[in-house]
Amino acid sequence: MEKTPKIAIYPGSFDPITNGHIDIIKRAIMLFDQVIVSVTRNLSKSPLFDETERVQMIRESLNDFPHISVESFDGLLIDYAREKQASAIIRGLRAVSDFEYEFQMALVNRKLHDDVVTVFLMTHDKYSYLNSSIVKELVRLGGDVDFFVPAHVRTRLEEKLRVK
Ligand code: PNS
Repeated sequence: MEKTPKIAIYPGSFDPITNGHIDIIKRAIMLFDQVIVSVTRNLSKSPLFDETERVQMIRESLNDFPHISVESFDGLLIDYAREKQASAIIRGLRAVSDFEYEFQMALVNRKLHDDVVTVFLMTHDKYSYLNSSIVKELVRLGGDVDFFVPAHVRTRLEEKLRVK
């Protein structure tokens, strides 16, 4: 009998993708047969890049990494996860400060549908202080972000943020 593939969604705003996100994706693919990196809107943030740009940057960063696909969606995460027949939602945890928000989201999603589990993965400690907002601020002020994002993402950030 054929085994049903284990599918996980890795959702986020990815504005833009960082090396911390890539680290989580590589860990997730060790646990699941397929990981769908899913770009969506976080209503409390105003993104710098549009959805198409964010999807493109993720695809370029993953270089056709096997068993990973990238797409975008609108609406509720839990509905989308069920539509994709995912058994899990992956979220990265960096520091304790992430926990309260992540815990709340996981519990709300579980309340809506408890057939999809939220799985928290810890980033490598070298990325534990990293987020997309800090990267944007660094680029805006001329800081070096080579350690934090792939080279093509840095170029896109510079194009958008540096004063011409
Ligand atoms: O990368 P982020 O900004 O921390 O990701 C947050 C995100 C996009 C996963 C969250 O805002 C989300 O799930 N948005 C989709 C709408 C939704 O389902 N909201 C209810 C979450 S409990």
